[in-house]
Amino acid sequence: MRNTLRGKTSTRMEPFAWLTCPDPRLTEALAYLAQHPGKQLRSRLVRLSAELIAGKPVQSAEPVGEAVELLHTYSLVHDDLPAMDDDDLRRGHPTLHRAFDEATAILTGDGLQAAAFQRLTEIDSLNAMQQLEILRVVSTAVGFQGMVGGQALDLGAEQQAVSVDALRKIHHLKTGALIGASVEAGAICANASEDARRALLRFARAIGLAFQVTDDVLDVTGDSQSLGKTAGKDAQARKSTYVSTLGLNGAQDEAETLLAEALNALGGFGTKAESLRQLAQQMVRRDT
Ligand code: IPE
Ligand code: IPE
Ligand code: MG
Ligand code: MG
Ligand code: MG
Repeated sequence: MRNTLRGKTSTRMEPFAWLTCPDPRLTEALAYLAQHPGKQLRSRLVRLSAELIAGKPVQSAEPVGEAVELLHTYSLVHDDLPAMDDDDLRRGHPTLHRAFDEATAILTGDGLQAAAFQRLTEIDSLNAMQQLEILRVVSTAVGFQGMVGGQALDLGAEQQAVSVDALRKIHHLKTGALIGASVEAGAICANASEDARRALLRFARAIGLAFQVTDDVLDVTGDSQSLGKTAGKDAQARKSTYVSTLGLNGAQDEAETLLAEALNALGGFGTKAESLRQLAQQMVRRDT
């Protein structure tokens, strides 16, 4: 019998509570992750981008958003591993490898990534062309030319001074790529025109970078309790960040400049883009 995810449902508070595994420890790990779903910004980007184009909520944006959140969660689980950022706290709770063990965290990340792509192939409300296009966009965003490449460059840039250009590339890849794919996937769900898709991509590129610049700033200005992750970790690991490169004020200014660029890209949509504009502002002017 085919093991399908079709018809499985979840709520926004427990975005992938429907995932199970024959191994009880992995099932427990999935339930643990589902209890702390994070801000879910990327699924909101999928939904709002689709809604902006269609003028109403788009059904397929829901499962596409879920798939994107699965990928994002996998990226966090692996990002926190001792071999990567070696973090103890995530979303206000012990990281998965701390709550369970490293093998469980590696396998859970692997499985989440596969489940995301399985999800994307099982969306009845999308036609085959839309499904393929979304698969192409999303797989590119998380692969060697996207998040994985950026994560490798990020680790390679530890304990050294890198140029702003090099840092911009790292941030675009490790964080901006999936954010861009979320917006683009939303546009595909709603059959956006080439022009609309181009404008949304300009928006996504700016907001994706602004989001990681803000993350770098919050690592310095935030506290672990409100962030739900260990503050001051970047300096401790001697990471190359926008703060280490441009200084705190320089990084904050850069985030605002990028936000303005993102909002400017939405100009042609007029008042229809208000929800997306608000989300963009939340992504940059946040304290968690
Ligand atoms: C954290 O992303 C990792 C980055 C790419 C900066 P989020 O801040 O969106 O994390 P959650 O999903 O809300 O925990
Ligand atoms: C994470 O960047 C980017 C990912 C692809 C997960 P960070 O390493 O800065 O994210 P946090 O600060 O641990 O959430
Ligand atoms: Mg990292
Ligand atoms: Mg990290
Ligand atoms: Mg960070």
